Amino acid sequence: MELELLTDRLLLRPLRLDDLDVATEMFTDPEVTRYAGGVLTAEEVETEMSDYIKRCAGGGIGIWCVLDRETSEKLGSGALLPIPIEEKDTNWDLVEGPDLPDREIEVGYFLKRPAWGKGYATEICMRLLAFAFEETPLVDVVACIEGDNDRSRHVLSKSGLRDEGTRRAYAEQLPCFRVTRTQWMSANRS
Ligand SMILES: CC(C)(COP(=O)(O)OP(=O)(O)OC[C@H]1O[C@@H](n2cnc3c(N)ncnc32)[C@H](O)[C@@H]1OP(=O)(O)O)[C@@H](O)C(=O)NCCC(=O)NCCS
Repeated sequence: MELELLTDRLLLRPLRLDDLDVATEMFTDPEVTRYAGGVLTAEEVETEMSDYIKRCAGGGIGIWCVLDRETSEKLGSGALLPIPIEEKDTNWDLVEGPDLPDREIEVGYFLKRPAWGKGYATEICMRLLAFAFEETPLVDVVACIEGDNDRSRHVLSKSGLRDEGTRRAYAEQLPCFRVTRTQWMSANRS
């Protein structure tokens, strides 16, 4: 399974420990973390990196670092991860082993603030959906947001995920979105 994913402007490659720089820039920023659990300290990000680099299912489930293809500048991250239900955050014990986790898989993305407003998040989301449906056996992909995260809601809608109302996730009732393999294939058949 090829885990280096290209788009017109971006390279997505599996997150590594030396991506601590971009992870710290994002997760210590109150704006970036506003709808994602709030800021971490730099020490907390460093500690959590060993979880963030975990992968399973042949590497298909995990976090990718997102770079500008031309300059190699790190812009953010994208992820396919098991959605937490009664946990407040990802259960990293599920991101281990050869099989897909026994949970629905959520698409996610974070950009450092200077990279907002350029269409990158939608490019990341679309590429990860293409990967999920072309390279893994997943039959659907979900995403949940905090109710007023309008930027993320917009990204999901542009990427073809459909509003499913609220559901249980992150130990809360949250707006949920989903796209099935069939929907994705019929929308993206060339
Ligand atoms: C959510 C987040 C990733 C969205 O980023 P974003 O830059 O607003 O998202 P997009 O990729 O859709 O880009 C937005 C705008 O870029 C503009 N843009 C500029 N150049 C563009 C291009 N070449 N192609 C497409 N859009 C472009 C567009 O105007 C687009 O807005 P529009 O669709 O209304 O026209 C970002 O706000 C973020 O990192 N937030 C914090 C983390 C977070 O909440 N993650 C989600 C958890 S659920």
